[in-house]
Amino acid sequence: MTTNETNDDASDIANEWLVSDILIRAVEPEDAPGVTALMNLPGYRWGTMRLPYQSVSTTRQKMSTSGPNFVCLVAISKDEIVGMASLTRFEGRRSHVGAVGMGVHDAYVGNGLGSRLLTSLLEVADDWWALRRIELTVNADNARAISLYEHMGFEREGVLRDYALRGGEFIDAVSMARFANKPRAGKSSET
Ligand SMILES: CC(C)(COP(=O)(O)OP(=O)(O)OC[C@H]1O[C@@H](n2cnc3c(N)ncnc32)[C@H](O)[C@@H]1OP(=O)(O)O)[C@@H](O)C(=O)NCCC(=O)NCCS
Repeated sequence: MTTNETNDDASDIANEWLVSDILIRAVEPEDAPGVTALMNLPGYRWGTMRLPYQSVSTTRQKMSTSGPNFVCLVAISKDEIVGMASLTRFEGRRSHVGAVGMGVHDAYVGNGLGSRLLTSLLEVADDWWALRRIELTVNADNARAISLYEHMGFEREGVLRDYALRGGEFIDAVSMARFANKPRAGKSSET
């Protein structure tokens, strides 16, 4: 899956300069150093669960997930990895559910790249896996991410108190989910 997309929104020339000519493609093993550099950025770490000083070998371990239930995309600008987004489909009685994780380079946030990455994942979720529920957890003070997710159809489900430690303080998280279609009216009689 290789998509070379262009930014249609020409209203902001600076933004267009940042996000035009960005290639979105599947992550490859040789991307590990670039993904590591992305994940070690302070803004990326602030919004995600990454630890400081992530090594390339740790990244390689995380990237070793593969197979038919995992899609991981990277965004490339001028040979630099400037964004990443993954979708994992669960198994068994949760095979209708997927989980999203994503992040954009500190210098590129707020320019539509997150929307493009998430749109690409949602196309997989809707058109190739027919997922009913897509879930994620976001830091409660990550207003940009929450705004993006709400624009893309995610709803807030609840607050997870003291969910994680970040730079010496416990922070809350918000559980969010997007539902691809309406719930069935009736319940199965089988239990
Ligand atoms: C969160 C993150 C992935 C969002 O990516 P991004 O490229 O910055 O997001 P976008 O530019 O596509 O969207 C951001 C803004 O556009 C808005 N937007 C997105 N789609 C929109 C739409 N269809 N209509 C209107 N507005 C839209 C968002 O609501 C948001 O608005 P705001 O910043 O004014 O509140 C990115 O900021 C990031 O990686 N941050 C650090 C790591 C992180 O927080 N990861 C998320 C972990 S849950």
